[in-house]
Amino acid sequence: MNRLKLLMLDCSPRRDNSTSRHFTQHLLPAMAARLGREIQITRRDLGAEPLPAITEAYAESLVLPADVAKERFGAALSVSDGLIRELDEADMLWISTPVHNFTVPAVLKNWIDLVVRRDVTFTTTERGKVGLLRDRPTFVAVTAGGAMFREPSLQPDFFRPYLRAVLGVIGLEDITFMHATGLAFADEPLAVVETKAAQWLRECEPRAMSADNTSSIA
Ligand SMILES: Cc1cc2nc3c(=O)[nH]c(=O)nc-3n(C[C@H](O)[C@H](O)[C@H](O)COP(=O)(O)O)c2cc1C
Repeated sequence: MNRLKLLMLDCSPRRDNSTSRHFTQHLLPAMAARLGREIQITRRDLGAEPLPAITEAYAESLVLPADVAKERFGAALSVSDGLIRELDEADMLWISTPVHNFTVPAVLKNWIDLVVRRDVTFTTTERGKVGLLRDRPTFVAVTAGGAMFREPSLQPDFFRPYLRAVLGVIGLEDITFMHATGLAFADEPLAVVETKAAQWLRECEPRAMSADNTSSIA
């Protein structure tokens, strides 16, 4: 059987003590084993090696039709072209990330700004923006220091609605969120993350790997 290609975006600026990287390390191998397919991972460590910030030429190119933009700003689009190719080649997307100020870290926002491109990854219609990429399973392993993703909510959630909306624009709608929160109050946050990962694998993962992508644990 062919190998599944997984594109991994690591978004934490932290390394050994990163809770989101640890969360992914305790979720992904188990999920991959249950899939019964070999997984080939392409890792983009946005936290350790942030992408260049978007430039004037890139922003100017976005207001032009794609063919004109390519002709006039080809070189300025090369990083974006490469990231889009990398995403398009993947069978699955995995985003490993902390919450920063109620939403995604700046390094992930930068990746988003480089892959969401009119007439390349989405098109505009009378009904609004429509994605041009084929849908594929997208898993978001997210950690937070405080009480995110809870009812009653103590912090506004600009993370999940934002990611759903912006990934939806380019055609990625099959999104599963897995979270471990309240880590700032834990004596051993990495141990809490391991417990959360085990709980998620026990309670939600079989549903997540089928059609239901709304799985969540407290
Ligand atoms: C710049 C910054 C902003 C943060 N903003 C929030 C926040 O809005 N809500 C929250 O619950 N935690 C927030 N945190 C805490 C992180 O989400 C938490 O420490 C998380 O476990 C970090 O994951 P990491 O270890 O993988 O980097 C923030 C941390 C940083 C560095």
